[in-house]
Amino acid sequence: MKKIRLFTPGPVMIPEDTMLEMARPIDHHRTAAFRESFKELGSLLQYVFQTSGTCVTITGSGTAAAEAAIVGCCPPGHKALVGLNGKFAERWAKVCANFGIPHTAMPVEWGTGVKASDVEAQFKADPKLDTVIIVHSETSTTALSDVAAIARVTRAHNAILIVDGITAVGAIPVKMDEWGVDVYITGSQKALMLPPGLGFLAVNDRAWQRIDSGKTPTLYNDLKAYRKSLEKNDVPYTPANTLILGAVHNLRKIKERGLENIWKETALFARATRAAVAALGLKTYAKDPTDSVTGIWVPQGVDEAKLRKTLRGDFGQQWAGGQGDLEGKIVRITHMGYMDIFDTLGGIAALELALKKNGYNTPIGAGVSAAQKVFAEALG
Ligand SMILES: Cc1ncc(COP(=O)(O)O)c(C=O)c1O
Repeated sequence: MKKIRLFTPGPVMIPEDTMLEMARPIDHHRTAAFRESFKELGSLLQYVFQTSGTCVTITGSGTAAAEAAIVGCCPPGHKALVGLNGKFAERWAKVCANFGIPHTAMPVEWGTGVKASDVEAQFKADPKLDTVIIVHSETSTTALSDVAAIARVTRAHNAILIVDGITAVGAIPVKMDEWGVDVYITGSQKALMLPPGLGFLAVNDRAWQRIDSGKTPTLYNDLKAYRKSLEKNDVPYTPANTLILGAVHNLRKIKERGLENIWKETALFARATRAAVAALGLKTYAKDPTDSVTGIWVPQGVDEAKLRKTLRGDFGQQWAGGQGDLEGKIVRITHMGYMDIFDTLGGIAALELALKKNGYNTPIGAGVSAAQKVFAEALG
């Protein structure tokens, strides 16, 4: 019997107890019980974002939350800089374009993070820039940006920093207030181990001042409406209340385990995977790799689509392919969420077998052995 395992960097696998929690009878959202849950969700989100800012939950995917942040923080008269190092960053430039927001899309080599020095140079060249939009962990290229360093630059220029933390929050270190980020964004289907359907944002006072300074050209994604409802622990529109039950449940567990422990574990899975990749004679893609997902070059002579078909068809494992220019060239495996050592080893083992079936002369067991060594060292 085959098990379905999601190794995609979202949606990820969901713990059984979370599924059961969400199977409870649905209550109405205009009730005291819902408002109590929603209040708790707000404070649990403050923990995962590491902020005392306001946490907003939008029913919609991460893109809805990011769009809300961008259009809210860029009313007429403002200009944004988007660090363009992957498909998701491109999407945020597209949001600017679609809403007529003046912006500079700064090209950044794929597989690398956005550099604080490049952001600084853009500010020097263009005094109109007052908003910066970057992706912390660019899932499409598996690259990490140094958010703390970029935040120092944006603060020095008194700009607003919006960070897409969709595959960062709850997986790798995120310290919104300490670093000086103004808006951080995530989505439910990543490290928070929920089905898709909720977007979350943390917004600080500087960002609210900007949002309040102009008219927001959207109804559903207008953050002002969410803040007004939050005064009563409520939501402006009908929420995905099943997912909210699951979110409270999972965030309680995340807090109980402690973010630092989760960050360490994600990093360990990434390290073990990189060791396995090297032992198999393969190469990882990113020059500045994130720990939440690893991108692996598909070796010459192997058809990427067929490789992933084998992983899914023969072994029940769903891996992600490349996006944009990387389509057909890399495969990606997640390290976020409901994963353990044996999922990671199982992924590597399946990759070895699938590579062999697709014509790559794999030293069978070499990847698993290298990863096991990393785990053995870490366990002491
Ligand atoms: C870094 C990043 N940003 C944005 C998105 C888009 O989020 P969604 O698909 O939830 O709208 C994703 C989804 O994979 C992502 O990984």
